[in-house]
Amino acid sequence: MSKEEKPVFHGSDVEKIAEKYGLNKEEITSFSANVNPLGISPLLREKFRENIDCIQRYPDREYRTLKLALSEYLNCHTSNIMVGNGTTELISLFIGIASPRRAIIVGPTYSEYERSVNIAGGKTSYFPLREENGFSLDMDLLCERITSDTDLIIICTPNNPTGTTVKRSDMRKLLDVAKERSCYVMVDETYIEFCDDEKELTAIPLVESHNNIVVLRSTSKFFACPGLRLGYAITADDDTLSSAGRKKNPWMIHTLAAENAMYMFSDTEYIKETKELISTERERLYEKYKNTDRFLPFKPKANFMLMKIKEDGLKSSDLFEKAIHENMMIRDCQSFPFLDDSFIRICFMKKEDNDRLFDCLTG
Ligand SMILES: Cc1ncc(COP(=O)(O)O)c(C=O)c1O
Repeated sequence: MSKEEKPVFHGSDVEKIAEKYGLNKEEITSFSANVNPLGISPLLREKFRENIDCIQRYPDREYRTLKLALSEYLNCHTSNIMVGNGTTELISLFIGIASPRRAIIVGPTYSEYERSVNIAGGKTSYFPLREENGFSLDMDLLCERITSDTDLIIICTPNNPTGTTVKRSDMRKLLDVAKERSCYVMVDETYIEFCDDEKELTAIPLVESHNNIVVLRSTSKFFACPGLRLGYAITADDDTLSSAGRKKNPWMIHTLAAENAMYMFSDTEYIKETKELISTERERLYEKYKNTDRFLPFKPKANFMLMKIKEDGLKSSDLFEKAIHENMMIRDCQSFPFLDDSFIRICFMKKEDNDRLFDCLTG
């Protein structure tokens, strides 16, 4: 990289950034990692402290207790659940099993899908979400794009970085068309718990009626524990589940997660508080940024917001630099396909931090 070229950092690159800018990483507020600002569930913290000795045991290979807790939390069968070392591991595991020759990725989106398909030896093409449509997905058009050569469709909902979602009726339509053309569908719902209409949106109920879907979820964002590395997948496709069972390592997650993670799913007070905070800040900040001359925000449904910079000559990297010098990290979106240096993404933190970022970005 030449000296003039500015690096583009990913949401979790706090260490790299702290080193480059000579900052203390503990003092950086990340508006880039999309993690719940309330931190981990207090109930989980308490149980971790009490149960630390559980790491003296090997975890149950079948993760029965954890799957039972997940089945109650998600209202689905335990036999349809698989747990893994973060959603990212499950993305590559399931893509490896699907082994697609051709995959369609709805984007711009999270980069791991493309990387995993390429590693599995497949070719990817993007189905573009268009800026002029507010980045919403035209499901009829997507269905037209599926041919008998398409093996896999990958959709993230709410989508990172556009914040757009897919209605369940549209998802059902996609699954029906995909089924006719022997195509598998991977749906990443990592951010769905942040949505006000989570229950109506989630594709999990479709798993019962369609065996060509896998839904992926994470605890990294809503439950604020990216370091725990706990993700899970829901599918009723027995062939895929048994292949995954054969391919995975015997212990994909550790005892601490396996025996205690259930406490966060049952921490209803914390879940309610998170939903209320994000919902209020989402509404407030969308209006606030919309009323500026500098930004065009795209209507967010989750805990982050994509914004276009309207001001001539002002680039995403300029705003990144401005914010990082005040110990705030935003996501410069120029590395996403179809986006350029006029897009940034921010996530919603606590009110006072959100206001501090607003003053910095608009000042
Ligand atoms: C859409 C999406 N899926 C998955 C992940 C990663 O989840 P995990 O930490 O569970 O691997 C991210 C992280 O940024 C993401 O944006």
